[in-house]
Amino acid sequence: MCGIIGVNGCMAAPVLLDGLKRLEYRGYDSAGVAVLESDGIRTVKCRGRVDALIEKLDRLPPFTGTLGIGHTRWATKGEPSDENAHPHTCGRFSVVHNGILENDGALRDKYLRLCPFSSETDSEVIAQLLNRLYNGDPLQTVAKTADLLAGSFALAVLCADAPDTLFCVRRSSPLLVGLGEDGGLAASDLSAFADRIQTLYRLADGEIAAVHRNSVDFYTFDLSPVDKQPEPFDRVQATAEKGGYEHFMLKEIHETPSAVRRTVQAAGAFDAAAFDKPSRIFITACGSAYHVGEAAKFVWEELLGVPVEVGIASEFRSRTLPLPEGSLVVTVSQSGETADTLAALRESKRQGVPVLSIVNVPHSTIAAESDHVFYTKAGVEVAVATTKAYVAQLAAVYAIGLALAERWQTAPGQRIERLKKELSRLPAAVEEALPCERRMRELAETLPAGEPVFFVGRGQGAAAAMEAALKLKEVSYLPAQSVPAGEMKHGTISLIHAGTPVFAFCLNEALNARMQSNIDELRARGAAVTAVSLTDDIRAQSLLRLPQVPELFAVSVAVIPMQLLSYYAARRLGCDIDKPRNLAKSVTVE
Ligand code: AGP
Repeated sequence: MCGIIGVNGCMAAPVLLDGLKRLEYRGYDSAGVAVLESDGIRTVKCRGRVDALIEKLDRLPPFTGTLGIGHTRWATKGEPSDENAHPHTCGRFSVVHNGILENDGALRDKYLRLCPFSSETDSEVIAQLLNRLYNGDPLQTVAKTADLLAGSFALAVLCADAPDTLFCVRRSSPLLVGLGEDGGLAASDLSAFADRIQTLYRLADGEIAAVHRNSVDFYTFDLSPVDKQPEPFDRVQATAEKGGYEHFMLKEIHETPSAVRRTVQAAGAFDAAAFDKPSRIFITACGSAYHVGEAAKFVWEELLGVPVEVGIASEFRSRTLPLPEGSLVVTVSQSGETADTLAALRESKRQGVPVLSIVNVPHSTIAAESDHVFYTKAGVEVAVATTKAYVAQLAAVYAIGLALAERWQTAPGQRIERLKKELSRLPAAVEEALPCERRMRELAETLPAGEPVFFVGRGQGAAAAMEAALKLKEVSYLPAQSVPAGEMKHGTISLIHAGTPVFAFCLNEALNARMQSNIDELRARGAAVTAVSLTDDIRAQSLLRLPQVPELFAVSVAVIPMQLLSYYAARRLGCDIDKPRNLAKSVTVE
């Protein structure tokens, strides 16, 4: 993870700090900047958030240089500390790194035995190597160093002997370069500099950029020039403000209807004719995006009559999974940069299987490497806990399912037409789910601190339960667990005692009788059960009736009250809602 930024051509410090604030969602346990001043590179860094860095800088003489780099960190190798914060400066070079090196130990042994290290990070190896290999030609030295590194890395590098050039390097971690009135810029993602650039380039794996004030040269690691065309980009989509809300998470929950509306409207661009009916569909993703896959399984199996297997992307490569000929792999990712999802995508392509990806962020690596992309139109999502993007991904799943069912004639035409109409109504249904906010706030007050909360369901209800539990634990730190309702009595029910809060998702009429039995079993042991239901015939302590949608679309409305519950539980417990501890929005390490 980590966010990196570089600038060449204007007062560097304010641009770096502004960019770091916007990149902070990528990691926030330490931050730092290095600027080339008249007397050499000056580096300031510290443990903590970007605000801690700003406070530290306020006590120091101001920077005046126009070439600089910055970093906001999510610790991988080496604990969060002043020493382990980036940039790492060594001799004539300073570097910021996003990614993980796999051969830092071997490089230390081979090239850097006598070098005094001041941090525990793999990234300092890069700064030491640049210094050790320096032959008076900064570009050559950057290229030679990059070629020796194994693992994932996006780098921005300063050299005190190249006051007109910011060097950028990429393998497997995202890196964008832009040109505008403030000069040349580089950053991990567009939101860091969208309002400062007119022209945008995306570095591909194995490329170096030499960024000047008004131009940029691209090379491969063996310094062959690369001819690269700028990419179109949407400046408005790339920037986000809180707009009067106390937290991005709450703002983004309220933006869900428009995120779904834009996504449904964009579905017309999906070309179902590009897909032959596969023998099997494999969906792979991480976290909430994986939970979208769990819901998609029910929707697509019903509409398409194709077996669907869903797997966590980090486990996709832990097995020897021969993908049968004629399969389709689907990845789901808000950021489009999640390392495990990208690795699963690459493995699928290596096996010759086509990949369709549902992605929110344009210019992302997963989008660029997929055979087919369905872009959700959720807009920028800043809060680490995904909300509107998750529901937009579900809308994409419904739209894809209907388009393919129509094309492959796997569902009756009348049913498809009816569901298409219902899909166009989904933004309104999602909007109808929002007025439960006050009730969820009151319910959040009743969740006992430190006590576990359980989420159960069957079918799509089990998928909704998974997402509800993740949301609650990630923002409020309350222990939350999802269990398929029928599985409770095989062990987990031993944790239920008087007053244990349980949320039971009843999203499918055909499964409701069995859900009722499971609810009764829980109530008999004292659990305080709230049924989250499409119908009002479920008996529980309390009932949360959802807006009317077809059962196939139920998860998208069922999850909204749970997002609000999580938000208000976290608020009551004084948690850092938009940036929960230990997390980062874009997980670019495996
Ligand atoms: C959910 O709230 C989390 N932030 C996390 O589980 C997230 O969904 C996961 O890391 C996948 O991210 P992606 O969609 O960007 O690939």
